[in-house]
Amino acid sequence: MIFEQLFDTKSSTYTYIISSGKGREALIIDPVIEHTNEYIKILKNLDLKLVKVIDTHIHADHITALNELNKRTNCTRIMGEKSKSEVIDLRIKDGETIKVENIEIKSIYTPGHTDCSYCYLMNDRVFTGDTLLINGTGRTDFQSGSPYDAYDSLFNRLLKLPEKTLVFPAHDYNGEKNSTIENEKNNNPRLQVSSKEEYVEIMDNLNLEDPKMMDVAVSANLKGLTLNQIWVETILHLFFK
Ligand SMILES: [Fe+2]
Repeated sequence: MIFEQLFDTKSSTYTYIISSGKGREALIIDPVIEHTNEYIKILKNLDLKLVKVIDTHIHADHITALNELNKRTNCTRIMGEKSKSEVIDLRIKDGETIKVENIEIKSIYTPGHTDCSYCYLMNDRVFTGDTLLINGTGRTDFQSGSPYDAYDSLFNRLLKLPEKTLVFPAHDYNGEKNSTIENEKNNNPRLQVSSKEEYVEIMDNLNLEDPKMMDVAVSANLKGLTLNQIWVETILHLFFK
């Protein structure tokens, strides 16, 4: 199996390129628009055909490459059914399976960070988006987030997965690449709580600043903008703001 974990230093985002083998079909999870050429180059070098591309949720800290990749490769854009994106090709329900040749990826609806957050389970590994991070959890104070829902998603869905399941998050700010459900259950400081109320108390008192690109990124991601459209919007904004 081909499994590439790429990193965007600006937003500390992890992107995953997955395929069953060289010369086969591929899938990308959480791509960042600035790296589109890099993804295309990797796909070309490995003789891969991009067929599907998934965002775990509407991102607030970077613009997704879903739409640029769709324009350039005609891949299918996938998000969970609760996504508010205006341009998604395929909306996946909780528990539904996405197939790329012999690879099967099952969606798990995990609201909390946003109300459109989904995790994706592929055999021994789970792509946790911003729901579960390494030694952290996604903030719940914007984009219809809810610390109550996040607690349920974490404790009643993700932590119920087999303990050896590898955790691959959408971000890491400390150079960690992956973890396990067991490790997060035992060591993640946010998960060492004894009740939902205690978790909500922590999340409601983080007092975080909004991500720098939030307004631009959320709007572009909802509209499904490609690079050219972003340039046009930027120019219009400069002249007519
Ligand atoms: Fe996020």
